[in-house]
Amino acid sequence: TGTGLGLEIVSTINKLQDVFSAVGSSASQIDLPQICVLGSQSSGKSSVLENIVGRDFLPRGAGIVTRRPLVLQLINRPATAAAAGAAAPNGAAAMNGAEKTDKHANQDEWGEFLHLPGEKFYDFNKIRDEIVRDTEAKTGRNAGISPQPINLRIFSPNVLTLTLVDLPGLTKVPVGDQPRDIEKQIRDMLMKYISKPACIILAVSAANQDLANSEGLKMAREVDPEGTRTIGVLTKVDLMDAGTDVVDILAGRIIPMRLGYVPVVNRGQRDIETNRPISYALEKEREFFENHPSYRGKAQYCGTPFLAHKLNTILKLHIKNTLPDIKTRITQQLQRFTAELQSLGGPMGDHNSANVVLNVITEFTSEFKTVIDGNTNDLSLSE
Ligand code: GDP
Ligand code: NA
Ligand code: MG
Repeated sequence: TGTGLGLEIVSTINKLQDVFSAVGSSASQIDLPQICVLGSQSSGKSSVLENIVGRDFLPRGAGIVTRRPLVLQLINRPATAAAAGAAAPNGAAAMNGAEKTDKHANQDEWGEFLHLPGEKFYDFNKIRDEIVRDTEAKTGRNAGISPQPINLRIFSPNVLTLTLVDLPGLTKVPVGDQPRDIEKQIRDMLMKYISKPACIILAVSAANQDLANSEGLKMAREVDPEGTRTIGVLTKVDLMDAGTDVVDILAGRIIPMRLGYVPVVNRGQRDIETNRPISYALEKEREFFENHPSYRGKAQYCGTPFLAHKLNTILKLHIKNTLPDIKTRITQQLQRFTAELQSLGGPMGDHNSANVVLNVITEFTSEFKTVIDGNTNDLSLSE
């Protein structure tokens, strides 16, 4: 099944990551696996992420909407008996299951921001409002950007435990309050995320533009020349000129990608303005690929469900490959912290960052050992 060992590891990794960001990242040199979107402004990055998650909560739209990185931890948490009745998924195909048909808050699904500890957001529209509010608080209202991330965790019985990062898009010409070197600032910001070997890149390109001009693909190739951690995502396939399609791209005849491309159809600007739900988007997308003469023979390799499936497979392989390295580094850190603590004359108080990190690493190392030693074979790919 898709919810076995791989997820257990990611869940543990997410926990570690949270502690590191709470105590300040200088404590850690560990590159934890996460999935980032990369592409030009308005290519559809936030829309792709939202469809994968299966919930409406990200600010989307024409122009520069995403202006700070959003580090999104999805955390699977089983439904409680009391709320279980309200948690029946509607069968929508996204990796992380399903959107609710009712608009009422479900007590089993909520979001929490790192900058608002203890506050639970059950209404996903309020989550979006808070992302917008905190973005404006740190960057102003006039198109400013900031590398300071927003950290959001979503707890739900309907998600896989995963970390996703929504990023501002590549842009060339400054608008509003943007600095003259906006292009470089955004590139530097993106580089910090995508250059990590543990980052899986969703390189998003709009299908109604020439792939050779895709800034996302160009930049992905700089950091991942072998293409072992980049998936090409082609958005706006519905907006292509009549008589044109992405068949040659999918076949690897234009810019070959080792892990291939997945074509998707997200909601258009009008759908955003009229609050079309994700269930509608996924249904429209399925119809589009099943009925289009160019894609109908291979519709199972198109759309958000296939992207989610592919991502899941690659994620498992990726985690399997990065485990030995993470293990080595955690062991080294553990030894260093232990030595430091001893040189300071024994354990420190609970309020000390190093102590918090040490405790988590200790816990992690034992959990990690159990998981690795017992079950490594379960991580083999099923494809
Ligand atoms: P981002 O800037 O890359 O995060 O892009 P957004 O997700 O904010 O989308 C930018 C605009 O493109 C919005 O108006 C979306 O409705 C629209 N859009 C994104 N993907 C598609 C798609 O596949 N089809 C259509 N028709 N519009 C899309
Ligand atoms: Na946009
Ligand atoms: Mg965006």
